[in-house]
Amino acid sequence: MRAVAIVGAAETKFGKLEQSYRELAAAAGRAALADAGARPEDIQALFLGSYSPGTFIHQEHVAPLVAAELGLPHVPATRVENACASGGSAFITACLAVAAGLYDVVLVIGAEKMTATSTEETTQILAEAADWERESAIGLTFPGVFALMAHAYFYRYGYTRDILDAVAIKNHQNALANPYAQFHKAITRDDIARSPLVADPLTLYDCSPISDGAAALVLVAADAAHHFAKPPVRVLGFGQASDSLALFERAELTTLPAAREAANRAYRMAGVSPQDIDVAEVHDCFTIAEIIATEDLGFFAPGEGGAAALAGATSRDGQIPINPSGGLKAKGHPVGATGVGQLAELVFQLRGDAGDRQVEGAEVGLAHNIGGSGATCVVTILAKGDGR
Ligand code: COA
Repeated sequence: MRAVAIVGAAETKFGKLEQSYRELAAAAGRAALADAGARPEDIQALFLGSYSPGTFIHQEHVAPLVAAELGLPHVPATRVENACASGGSAFITACLAVAAGLYDVVLVIGAEKMTATSTEETTQILAEAADWERESAIGLTFPGVFALMAHAYFYRYGYTRDILDAVAIKNHQNALANPYAQFHKAITRDDIARSPLVADPLTLYDCSPISDGAAALVLVAADAAHHFAKPPVRVLGFGQASDSLALFERAELTTLPAAREAANRAYRMAGVSPQDIDVAEVHDCFTIAEIIATEDLGFFAPGEGGAAALAGATSRDGQIPINPSGGLKAKGHPVGATGVGQLAELVFQLRGDAGDRQVEGAEVGLAHNIGGSGATCVVTILAKGDGR
């Protein structure tokens, strides 16, 4: 396989936005091309991660729609759908195509428009990424799924919701320095205590919001990376794994086995270990998910992720900075865009372009993107430089 590098990265702001799906996806794509110093005619294929535009905005067949909007001349354009991991899976698919030697320069976009529907409709559309027949149709929505995980984690390891507060406060704080973030609002334990309960023990501030947004990356064969404007970021490794959609079929609720498997595959391919990671963007769709992710990725032993969050080990200047972007919690979670947005943030971090949220000296970064309750897990490891 050929080595792959990222030479362009961009995001739109995430949030409740005026722009349409098409405008957001195209804006991210154009900005990534500009970042790379590439032209539309340089692009040989488009991979678009998107979860459910058919139900959110009544538009399927979105990959050629976005390719045409960007003026990409008759490229193969393919949508990849894997729930909230659609962006991460689109990225891996694009990497495989470049690594196989099929294309030299490809564009990856993640996009979603979720705010055109009501919260109730959006909740149902999202719940369709769980096992509808056996769980969602009888009332188990995603806040409920992660609430069950939080209770299982508290029960097994003896924690209270203090650990969730620590994640929410940190991620809202980190997002203050991110111009792309949906929320620019510092929060306190009192704010959380006063906030509405969504699914016990999860309150408003434990949930990622409903968001619109898009992100994009330009991927190239690493040996051609020097033709582009920005310093390259290497794709060191990636791994993907799957699990049951239904929660009742899982042996335990305090870990996502597919995340562990995806991480092991990515570490093996990259030839690095958890201790080598300088910064990570993890899928904190709910605060408990961040704590479980830090254990599944091997940063902390099982049961120690909660204590680490409380001790500040995951803050921007901590032992392992987690979600300097603000994470899904405060940066926002336009589901199909999220995986690509995490990687764009890592590119900014590894190039030293992350402004006030820069993690000093970051050379190796990891993204953890999950679909549903972890039925799809994608882990990607990036490193500064072209490796030559
Ligand atoms: N975190 C922090 N603040 C939030 C928020 C969140 N997740 N969601 C909404 N808000 C804020 C809004 O900005 C608004 O603030 P304002 O009054 O100052 O303007 C206020 O809360 C009310 O917003 P509203 O849009 O009416 O909230 P809602 O009750 O319709 O939706 C949730 C709140 C938590 C139900 C919704 O964000 C949600 O469903 N989140 C989970 C999404 C999800 O499941 N994603 C997939 C994960 S697998």
